[in-house]
Amino acid sequence: MGFLTRFLVFVSLFTGLVSGFALQRLPLIQFDEGYTQLFGDQNLIVHRDGKSVRLTLDERTGSGFVSNDIYLHGFFSSSIKLPADYSAGVVIAFYMSNGDMYEKNHDEIDFEFLGNIRGKEWRIQTNIYGNGSTHLGREERYNLWFDPTEDFHRYSVLWSHSHIIFYVDDVPIREVKRTATMGGDFPAKPMSLYATIWDGSKWATNGGKYGVNYKYAPYIAQFTDLILHGCAVDPTDKISSCEDGAAKNLRVASEITMSERNKMKSFRRKHLTYSYCYDHTRYKVVLSECVVNPEEAKRLRVYDPVTFGGIPHRHRHGKHRSKSRFDGSESI
Ligand SMILES: *[C@@H]1O[C@H](CO)[C@@H](O)[C@H](O)[C@H]1NC(C)=O
Repeated sequence: MGFLTRFLVFVSLFTGLVSGFALQRLPLIQFDEGYTQLFGDQNLIVHRDGKSVRLTLDERTGSGFVSNDIYLHGFFSSSIKLPADYSAGVVIAFYMSNGDMYEKNHDEIDFEFLGNIRGKEWRIQTNIYGNGSTHLGREERYNLWFDPTEDFHRYSVLWSHSHIIFYVDDVPIREVKRTATMGGDFPAKPMSLYATIWDGSKWATNGGKYGVNYKYAPYIAQFTDLILHGCAVDPTDKISSCEDGAAKNLRVASEITMSERNKMKSFRRKHLTYSYCYDHTRYKVVLSECVVNPEEAKRLRVYDPVTFGGIPHRHRHGKHRSKSRFDGSESI
């Protein structure tokens, strides 16, 4: 699709949408329409239907893909099926970043799957960084109400000027509202979308206690139902595909409905296992955007977290897209 076509499709699709739930009904794209292989040679395989992708980690390499475009805001989604059985140390990440364009002050929005130990649950983590705030992790961790290795489940990020919402299937699991005091810590520059599988032995499962065991390789993560519905930013003339109307619709979409909010509360009561907002070991002073929920505070206070950093840079090895680099600022 050309730039103008994409622009028109975006504007028309966003008209009248009122919730994240509706966003999940947006058209699915072919892998080639939106993405390119980032690294991993033969370890990335696009299915014959052109819509599904397998990412493999074996003793040679992990693998990953990256969006062809960079985006400032939008709705980004994939259904993912995680590797079954023993997968300690294996990291699967579905995330946005502009680390290759802004080395010192990059932004990031992360969904990370942190491996398991046979018989135990997979855990997932969400996190954001803005403008290089890597000394301040804003991690939350959860377990799930299903086994993510048995079926595909949808993982989505809605990113607007004012909100970031993470979804699992049709449940919003986390809402980050931009506050004035967050300043540059709220992601606000165009980012690429990535999906990767890599060896996080030193990092991922129980803080690196359990490494990847290649006896159980290959580890295969499957991706399908790809939605890339964002305000693409042209890297050369820096024009965003979202004019005011579309940006406004994205804002409307980021208003969580009452029923979604109830689902989110219920999810968090049962499945939230860690939040930086209650980690007084790391943060003597609670970060300004944290809204303390007494029930969460009471339940999570006793949890002794293992601190993870951001997604380490080493999984970004490999071919980056050859596009000219975007060097604009937030003034798009
Ligand atoms: C982002 O970081 C750059 C470089 O450190 C700084 O000049 C700029 O003011 C920051 N922007 C915001 C919004 O904080």
